[in-house]
Amino acid sequence: MTHAVTPFPDGFLWGASTAAHQIEGNNTNSDWWRKEIAGAVKEPSLDACDSYHRWREDMDLLAGLGFTDYRFSIEWARIEPAPGHFSRAELAHYRRMVEGAVERGLRPMVTLHHFTVPQWFEDRGGWTANGAVELFERYVRATAPVIAEDVRHVCTINEPNMISVIAGLAKSGEHGFPPAGLPTPDEDTTKAVIAAHHAARAAVKEINPGIQVGWSVANQVYQALPGAEDVTAAYRHGREDVFIEAARGDDWIGVQSYTRTRIGTDGPIPAPADAERTLTQWEYYPAAVGHALRHTAEIVGDVPLVVTENGIAAADDARRVDYYTGALHEVARAIEDGLDVRGYLAWSALDNYEWGSYEPTFGLIAVDPETFERTPKPSAHWLGGIGRSRELPRAAG
Ligand code: BGC
Repeated sequence: MTHAVTPFPDGFLWGASTAAHQIEGNNTNSDWWRKEIAGAVKEPSLDACDSYHRWREDMDLLAGLGFTDYRFSIEWARIEPAPGHFSRAELAHYRRMVEGAVERGLRPMVTLHHFTVPQWFEDRGGWTANGAVELFERYVRATAPVIAEDVRHVCTINEPNMISVIAGLAKSGEHGFPPAGLPTPDEDTTKAVIAAHHAARAAVKEINPGIQVGWSVANQVYQALPGAEDVTAAYRHGREDVFIEAARGDDWIGVQSYTRTRIGTDGPIPAPADAERTLTQWEYYPAAVGHALRHTAEIVGDVPLVVTENGIAAADDARRVDYYTGALHEVARAIEDGLDVRGYLAWSALDNYEWGSYEPTFGLIAVDPETFERTPKPSAHWLGGIGRSRELPRAAG
């Protein structure tokens, strides 16, 4: 680990990511809100970080820290509160965010769908109901006033594989965020979200052919134990590879990784007993991003890669700096080895609502739950500073 200077190419995206439901607060028309209020998860999101009102402060901080890019999502449940009724006020809200980002020197990457759907969409059967893909496409067309100008990157759907796994879990009566490694995905949901992505890609290109369209896949970094290579390949196929394959022909693909999953002949096996674990109980494994980039490139072929999420839930911010140091050296090595990596967006800008609980803190910026006061952590200054200098500090040790 000796990279003193990054090989990050010109135009490299350098930023942080968020998702609407996790930071905005009071996303009351969404499926997750209903589930949270019904007590299906540990705690509800409620006001979250109040970023619906405080997005300017969030962007001021990110730009001031040295970041040049901000990935945020816009909320379908707000934009289309009832089927076919599009809120001009919400569209204007998100348009102000796009313009606000640009004014601050942040290039916006806009995610159109990050896990949540309107309650009416869930009520009519969700992704596998007749007409679901067309309804998503109609919503995407309606976002034209938000994305038609000033937006270079659009992510259609965040972690479609996670959506499919969450649907699989729901069929077995469980609700919530799936464990690392991922249980069985629901095949019909897989087909639907892939079709939705392709329809959305075409719709965005009609809005503005210059927009670079992609989607972001959750990479579990499956690692075969000796003798379990075939089991691993089969396990990975429906959980990861089909979604990467569906990105062939896209302008870029988002790579999202946090930890690894080791697979034995009987399936996933727990992390070694002495392994360090993060607040999500995932194995501390900064090398994940390097594996995820290489595996994605192998499957997707000639499509540029963007790390659209990578990070760690840690109470001790020094572990976050250590994690990002290890991860960034992996990214640098991948670029040196010829991979076409176009950006790195950390997860997450803020300590936010982690799908059922506020406990796992992924943020570069702490948020006071009472006052919503934001306080950048040392890791935020450190990571943002790399954006300015484009130099990667030597890894410790
Ligand atoms: C998701 C985020 C989530 C993060 C950490 C990703 O699966 O896109 O919404 O907060 O990982 O769990």
